[in-house]
Amino acid sequence: MIRTAAIVLGLAITTCALADSTLQVNRPSGELSTEDGLIAWQRIFAVLSHPRCSNCHTDEHNIPMWSGPSYGRTRPHGMNIHAGPSRMGVETLMCSTCHITSRTPNTLPHAAPHAGHPWMLAPAAFAWHGKDSASVCTQLRDPQRNGGRDGQALVEHIIHDAEAHAFITWGFAPGGGREPAPGSMQAHLDDMLLWTSVGMPCPEGAQP
Ligand code: HEC
Ligand code: HEC
Repeated sequence: MIRTAAIVLGLAITTCALADSTLQVNRPSGELSTEDGLIAWQRIFAVLSHPRCSNCHTDEHNIPMWSGPSYGRTRPHGMNIHAGPSRMGVETLMCSTCHITSRTPNTLPHAAPHAGHPWMLAPAAFAWHGKDSASVCTQLRDPQRNGGRDGQALVEHIIHDAEAHAFITWGFAPGGGREPAPGSMQAHLDDMLLWTSVGMPCPEGAQP
């Protein structure tokens, strides 16, 4: 059962061109347990809950957050920025007015960060700012609450992000004196492959 899941995942991923990325798709092998999956989940959650990721993964109030060491205290984005239901500020002021789309490294402290994909909040279905590990875990593995994504789509999202130099890529190398998300893009992909291959186990106390 576990082995089948890993093989299906591996086959689908080999069709994904990795030409523009140094990421390796290391298919999990050997006997992996739920326990291994839970340990991988702890590291995945440390990434998702890090300010570089959670500042954009906010709820249906559509407000980006400023948090993490370079911001001092946690607070809503300055200058009254509101992303609106579009999640990219179409209704008021586009995020791209300040956050340009560019693959060049971010260097200036306190400048609006940029990435290779137009800047915007994640869909509210992927909101996890301020939520605990069990809540984010069950939310992420439930296709009813994550925009219909399954484990394979989560893995593919990381690979596509690397190709586009998008937001996950930025989170691990934010520049401008910002604290990066813990670990590396490669370690995060390895963990996501492991966690999904053993059926996305969630910590105790999690709702099914
Ligand atoms: C008027 C210019 C401006 C607009 C418009 C703007 N931002 Fe920003 N944003 C900034 C600046 C400047 C910073 C960095 C502030 C700092 O580091 O002190 C920032 C930082 C952020 C951060 C924190 C990144 C981190 O360090 O983790 C997020 C998230 C963010 N913006 C999201 C958005 C979103 C989403 C929109 C559109 C709804 C938006 N911003 C619109 C100027 C802007
Ligand atoms: C600039 C805002 C922004 C930042 C910063 C950001 N994300 Fe996202 N995230 C998004 C958007 C937008 C989407 C929706 C993309 C899509 O639907 O393909 C998304 C989607 C996701 C998803 C769901 C993908 C799926 O297929 O279900 C995951 C997981 C994710 N991001 C992880 C991260 C991680 C990990 C980081 C930090 C290393 C991060 N994000 C940083 C905006 C952001």
